[in-house]
Amino acid sequence: MFLLNGESRHLVDVSDRGFQYGDGLFETLEVLQGTALFLDRHLQRLTEGCQRLLLPPPDWQLLQQEAQQLTANTEHGVLKIIMTRGSGGRGYRQPEPIVPTRLLSLHPYPQYPTSLQSHGIVTRFCDQLLSINPSLAGIKHLNRLEQVLARAEWRDDAIQEGLMLDNNGHVIEGTMSNLFIVKNAVLYTPALTQSGIAGIVRQLVLAFANQLALPISIQNLSKDQLLQADEVFVTNSVIGIWPVKQIAQHSFQVGEWTQRLQVMLNQARLIEVENHD
Ligand SMILES: Cc1ncc(COP(=O)(O)O)c(C=O)c1O
Repeated sequence: MFLLNGESRHLVDVSDRGFQYGDGLFETLEVLQGTALFLDRHLQRLTEGCQRLLLPPPDWQLLQQEAQQLTANTEHGVLKIIMTRGSGGRGYRQPEPIVPTRLLSLHPYPQYPTSLQSHGIVTRFCDQLLSINPSLAGIKHLNRLEQVLARAEWRDDAIQEGLMLDNNGHVIEGTMSNLFIVKNAVLYTPALTQSGIAGIVRQLVLAFANQLALPISIQNLSKDQLLQADEVFVTNSVIGIWPVKQIAQHSFQVGEWTQRLQVMLNQARLIEVENHD
């Protein structure tokens, strides 16, 4: 199901700058019992992305209405919101005025085995690097070639996620997720000021850690620090929190902090559904 600029169409103009240049942003949300989870947080990140890309701010009320229209009867699914700079402009020069294209689409929830949540996932290091670019770091822009190339590095279904480093050898995130480790009862997650996407579940996990009085350190992480961790997990809006049980040849236990954070995320998801009714 699609809503393109408010109409149930799904054909975008070939001159759209999202198609021509990847000139836009997107959000991916879990839909549970008719509720697009943490929609306001996603709209906030979209708004920040618009500021960064010099796009007009999104109309929250309109997007909330359209999200509601599309997801009202969905028990479990995935909502994707794309906003582009629309059509026109000569070359890279921005059109005046900018008339953004907005596309909301609803997708089935992926059939992940529940054991991934409980027993953890297998990961590998990717050769593809993340480039350093502070002006694009953190936002969820439409240029995802690094992730596409990284994901093309393996076809073995026994591996669920690839971990990506930047040109300085810092571990940044997964191809589709943010990365956390726990070491000596401190939660570490990579700084995302140079590359990576500042995830919504990452925000939530940091808030839960505060509630649990689990100290947080946002800093550069090396491969060695990662491999010496007590607990490792990855997060995104669709998978929630997946413990990592293996990185290349190194094994990890599913840790207690990871499990506590999973419980808190599940509670927060259910509160979202309750508050929406
Ligand atoms: C590269 C990358 N990093 C991080 C994330 C996590 O973001 P969120 O928690 O907002 O889903 C995603 C989500 O798709 C991603 O693709």
